[in-house]
Amino acid sequence: MFTAIFVVGFATQPATLATFATQPATVATAPADQVLRRPDTRFARNITVFHVNQHSFGAVPVNMNTADLTGDLFFDLLEVLISPLLCQNHSHKLPGPDPCTNPEAMGADLVVNKVTLEVDSRFSGYAACNVCVEGQDPFGGYCEDGKYICDCLATGGAASWPPKLRPCNTTVGFEEVYSLMGKGIGHKGCRRSPQLPSPTPAQCYVEGVFGKLTAADGGAWYSSLEAGFCGEEGGDCTWRVASVDKIVSRSCHVRVFGEEVQRAGAPECLDACGKDRTNVTSPCWVSCLYKAALGPDAGHPDGKVGGLSLEALKQAWAKPFLGEESGGCPALEEWAGGQRRPLLNSLPVLSPWGGRPRTLLPSRAAGTLVAAL
Ligand SMILES: *[C@@H]1O[C@H](CO)[C@@H](O)[C@H](O)[C@H]1NC(C)=O
Ligand SMILES: *[C@@H]1O[C@H](CO)[C@@H](O)[C@H](O)[C@H]1NC(C)=O
Ligand SMILES: *[C@@H]1O[C@H](CO)[C@@H](O)[C@H](O)[C@H]1NC(C)=O
Ligand SMILES: *[C@@H]1O[C@H](CO)[C@@H](O)[C@H](O)[C@H]1NC(C)=O
Repeated sequence: MFTAIFVVGFATQPATLATFATQPATVATAPADQVLRRPDTRFARNITVFHVNQHSFGAVPVNMNTADLTGDLFFDLLEVLISPLLCQNHSHKLPGPDPCTNPEAMGADLVVNKVTLEVDSRFSGYAACNVCVEGQDPFGGYCEDGKYICDCLATGGAASWPPKLRPCNTTVGFEEVYSLMGKGIGHKGCRRSPQLPSPTPAQCYVEGVFGKLTAADGGAWYSSLEAGFCGEEGGDCTWRVASVDKIVSRSCHVRVFGEEVQRAGAPECLDACGKDRTNVTSPCWVSCLYKAALGPDAGHPDGKVGGLSLEALKQAWAKPFLGEESGGCPALEEWAGGQRRPLLNSLPVLSPWGGRPRTLLPSRAAGTLVAAL
């Protein structure tokens, strides 16, 4: 979720397909008198967040990054939807996961999860969470294949490579995209510069996307680590899933979002795509999407950035989560290690990497809650 095509040039969303242990899914049944383990009520706050991943990783974002509507819309426009254009010449040679092979853009069985998290609002610094690929943590060091790994970068750590790391903390990590990287960049629009003497349309679109961020709506990115997960045995409890609101397939999400945005563009644009007019991974369709979102000239240096307002883009991105009668996507059930089960509204939860179901039982001794396996 940590992105900075022009700032630091690497992305940290999962960069490959991870293997997922399919275990028999037994959903633990909680005793009727169960009280849930919850974050400190004095600081608890509910946040609605989104995340794209493979269905098999589950909707509970243990060691994953999530974002609010603006934050995920931006990630999508900056790194995922743009990839057919950005990767046409496959020139990405910067450190970190390669967005041109990012399965979150291209992989099979992708879903977009909408969940409400109850979090302790004393946020920590953001952790970049990725699926471990070939034992290599994208920020240096080793990790276990197919599992999510999170790294907290030291302030300014992204400026050097490998970046400096600092210890993560157990409260949810938070970062505002605008403060971090939007402020100085996009509002100048797409310009020729010594670093970029002839920006491509894709590079100009990225600048245009940054330009849509505002101080008032700057996009929030979160990291929710296992060490603070209330569904784990013992340890700190700084976040839990209050509800899994809806899971939609990524393909439906792109189609509904795309139709909504393309409606605002010039119809001739898509007409010129011929058989690719509904092909969301074709450079032609993607160009029309960005022209509609950012204005027809946003792909050229010094081109005017216009197109849809941030509010309209957000509504389009959220539309798949409406009911089907309102044009939304069909709701998928949550994945449960080989079986599907109904959406969870509370704990207990399964660890998304196929761990054992955990039931939370009141502890007789302390009057607090402990997790029993
Ligand atoms: C969060 O939402 C859940 C269920 O929707 C509710 O029970 C809980 O009280 C809410 N927490 C806060 C801090 O508002
Ligand atoms: C790819 O490279 C060609 C030739 O350099 C250039 O004309 C074209 O605009 C590039 N496409 C993109 C999407 O960057
Ligand atoms: C975690 O807490 C320590 C001690 O307060 C601090 O030095 C460190 O920067 C924090 N890390 C993050 C990611 O917030
Ligand atoms: C969609 O476009 C991509 C990229 O040009 C192409 O590889 C793919 O075959 C197209 N899909 C269809 C169904 O035409």
